[in-house]
Amino acid sequence: MLTLVPRPRTLRTSPDEEALTLGTTPGIAAAGAALPVAGLLAASLRSRGAAPSLADADDAAIITLELTGPDGSRGASDDRVADESYALDITSDAVTVSAPEPAGLFRGTQTLLQLLPVDLTGSVQVPTLHVDDAPRFEYRGVMLDVVRHFFPVADVLRFIDALALLKINTLHLHLTDDQGWRLHIDSWPDLTAVGARGAVGDAPGGFYTQDDLRRIIAYAAARFITVVPEIDLPGHTNAALHAYAELNADGVAREAYHGIEVGFSSLSASPERAEATDRFLRDVIGEVAALTPGPWLHVGGDESWSTSPEDYRDLVRRITSTAAGTGKRVIGWHEIGSCDDLPAGTIAQYWSYLQPVSPAAEQVRSVVARGGQVIMSPADVAYLDIRYPEDIPTPGGYALGLDWADGPTSFEAAYTWEPTAIVDGIAESDILGVESPLWTETALTIADVEHLAFPRAAALAEIGWSVAGERDPAEFAGRVATLGPMWDAAGIRYARLSEVPWPSGEPA
Ligand code: ACM
Repeated sequence: MLTLVPRPRTLRTSPDEEALTLGTTPGIAAAGAALPVAGLLAASLRSRGAAPSLADADDAAIITLELTGPDGSRGASDDRVADESYALDITSDAVTVSAPEPAGLFRGTQTLLQLLPVDLTGSVQVPTLHVDDAPRFEYRGVMLDVVRHFFPVADVLRFIDALALLKINTLHLHLTDDQGWRLHIDSWPDLTAVGARGAVGDAPGGFYTQDDLRRIIAYAAARFITVVPEIDLPGHTNAALHAYAELNADGVAREAYHGIEVGFSSLSASPERAEATDRFLRDVIGEVAALTPGPWLHVGGDESWSTSPEDYRDLVRRITSTAAGTGKRVIGWHEIGSCDDLPAGTIAQYWSYLQPVSPAAEQVRSVVARGGQVIMSPADVAYLDIRYPEDIPTPGGYALGLDWADGPTSFEAAYTWEPTAIVDGIAESDILGVESPLWTETALTIADVEHLAFPRAAALAEIGWSVAGERDPAEFAGRVATLGPMWDAAGIRYARLSEVPWPSGEPA
């Protein structure tokens, strides 16, 4: 049975060929830019009980990681899809992963890991096969809201590992909102000194130092995952308005807020606040851009319901031009499409429904008509904060997930949507990719996050990676079931949905 998630582009088994025997001390040959990928593969094999050794590329080794780019490694190109392509060849005596770039090699090693049992303390038989693979979309993301509840660095690194197994390549961190400001900004220290206290309800606050964020970025980058930081503007800014009186229209600092209502806060477009607001935008966006090696900056733009349409257009113009001025490509939630002077190449993140609620579709088409692209995150199927239809045990014993986006959202619904079938006039090439946001109103711990994210993030991963069509929920559930033992071994607290035929064993 084919047991890979996401489904690869082509897979050819060789039933007549003898299986490969992988012993407990496999040698991994790699050189140059393939070495770090080999190191991560070795660590994964070690965590399953094997004792791998790294060999020189010329040595006899059972696993070889081979870069096939023009000069072995040309550094990341601007073709991200090609960079992630790879081939995996398993014959009766060797495993070869080959790719033009280290990113593709890493993706190939995740395929290999899915084909191996979780217990490598004895020698195992591996089926012979050949995989040729590449992603459908260049952006396949999950968003983690670290504001409504805060998650320490170690939790985020653990989450990154779980995403890497699914070939997710983007982690969008929602760093600021009404309830807290979670990234230290040197030039505006009270954003965290004052604005990071507390979270939803009575939960503790917290924030990342710039070194913390660098650590997250580096850990993700080693797994070829790009971090997209989001500073949500001009709404969702109560924490900043609480920390700095000068950002408020009336010059009076707002009270701290730890509820879950939305749409009440806004930066001020008043000329009296222009100096402070523009300095805030320049400083904050400048520091975040300087911390970010990736190509994208997310500036929010959603639910600014207390900003007049005229002020919204003025503020979004100032926000997006400041962000574009750092050299980054700007991403905003689809509402920014109501502005007609966005920087070239701006990306709209669509978060309306499979049936678009007006004016979301118009706003997306407006961004695309100006040369931009779309990230598809239809809330009724892609949002991971929405509860499951069934009552299943949760890690903390309390209910998880909300209902607001036409919830609940089943595993089948999360799997069977098609990104090109949502907004009329938006074609494949207009779509940068897909993303599943996870807002953390109800998720207090990383175990809660994992329960909401897995297995539905696997559905998002396949929609983003695998060719269109071929969406048989029962067949997919059968493949996802094989991830269960890997998640169990990693301590991932996934939801044991009844739709998935999990192998028997310890429940999550
Ligand atoms: C959003 O869910 N407010 C983007």
